[in-house]
Amino acid sequence: MISASMHFPAGFLWGTATSSYQVEGNNTTSDWSQWEQDPGRILNGHRSGKACDWWSGRWKEDFDLAAQDGHNAHRLSIEWSRVEPSPGKWDVDALDHYRTIVSGALARGLTPLVTLHHFSNPLWLVEEGGWHASTVVEHFAAFTRKVVETLGDLVTRWVTINEPNVLLYNGYVDGVFPPGETDLRSLPPLTVNLLRAHASAYHTIHELVPDAQVGMAHHYRSFHPARERSSLDRYVAAMRSRLFNHLFPSAVASGVVNMIKRIPVPEVVGTQDFMGLNYYTRELSRFSLLNPEQMLKEGKFADKALLSQTGFIAHQPEGFWEALQWARGFRLPIYITENGIDDGEDRIRPIYLAEHIQQAWRAANFNWQLKGYFYWTLVDNFEWERGWTQPFGLYALDRKTQQRTPRRSAQFFSEICRANGLSSEMIYRYAPDALDRIFPPRQPDDLAE
Ligand code: FCB
Repeated sequence: MISASMHFPAGFLWGTATSSYQVEGNNTTSDWSQWEQDPGRILNGHRSGKACDWWSGRWKEDFDLAAQDGHNAHRLSIEWSRVEPSPGKWDVDALDHYRTIVSGALARGLTPLVTLHHFSNPLWLVEEGGWHASTVVEHFAAFTRKVVETLGDLVTRWVTINEPNVLLYNGYVDGVFPPGETDLRSLPPLTVNLLRAHASAYHTIHELVPDAQVGMAHHYRSFHPARERSSLDRYVAAMRSRLFNHLFPSAVASGVVNMIKRIPVPEVVGTQDFMGLNYYTRELSRFSLLNPEQMLKEGKFADKALLSQTGFIAHQPEGFWEALQWARGFRLPIYITENGIDDGEDRIRPIYLAEHIQQAWRAANFNWQLKGYFYWTLVDNFEWERGWTQPFGLYALDRKTQQRTPRRSAQFFSEICRANGLSSEMIYRYAPDALDRIFPPRQPDDLAE
């Protein structure tokens, strides 16, 4: 058997990513807690409930698991609605609690990467107009200031806004996230407000922590034409990619939002110290004259692709390579801020891990500035409008007892973290089906050499 290993640079960060609303539980003051009450919004009528019970203290148990597994980092987020339950009123206990959590990560050798906004908003902000209202920019800056005053001596890596493209698409085009709107015309001004809020947070963080590293977490989805030879399909795939993938990072690079018309947002230029990259899958786009609206909606997955448990994700590691190449184009350090698959039986996850980490290694091996990899996620959690139906965790969660049970991938990922790399021997043990793809067998021609 071939014997090889793929090493990562010294100091590489390995960990998992979580978000506050999805793990903390007992949230009553955010737009998501209200959204959950609305019949039909969440699959199977699920509720986040206690979630992974972090707010009552189970973050300790989870950080213990991560540390025992050899992780050296963790990505988590701060719940705005807890810190600022009404406008300008700060909940000191909540801020202290976050300080305890972040200190707890550090005490266990987990470098924190902190996200300020991960999809959920305080209810009072929504009443003011949410992301439609230009006041959101000052509010977000004030919230950022409070959080950074509390955590700035502990945290140097910050994500301002998680997946602004998904937030826009799900909340304002598809309507499956709050506020459940479907009006494309609102996208340009919403994009401007998100960018301005990001820029104001960027400058606030740097004012308080000059050597901080600040970025956004961009969701990159690989769009390919369903029929390679159809120029119309190619056009739809390119349009989808331009709207979904490029809008935000291109605006940060150029200072212009380029959608229908060009809107200058000069203050956003250069407000990223790194690219946060979330990658899950690739989809195929198809032109349709009969159903033009459908072209903006989700496409199909390749016929032969391995699909996740709920068919939400197709295993397409080449799309990750494409995403990494794209991210590299911005000439900034790159953190993989999310990558993962829902797979309760852990059938595909080891293969997914092996082949995606192989792609990350290709980038590291070319000396691209890849700094860390965060698997989504540590323990099964509340997956937004999909409720509890998607087990993304390295650990399974029994919601009644709150017991965590490791899936085999937890052990696999642990070996990767400890070795700071991936070896053929690990792949042989955990993901034998991927072995021939990662190390193609010798061909007769090779032997002739
Ligand atoms: C990403 C989100 C994250 C999680 C994963 C599965 O788009 O950032 O919160 O739901 O998808």
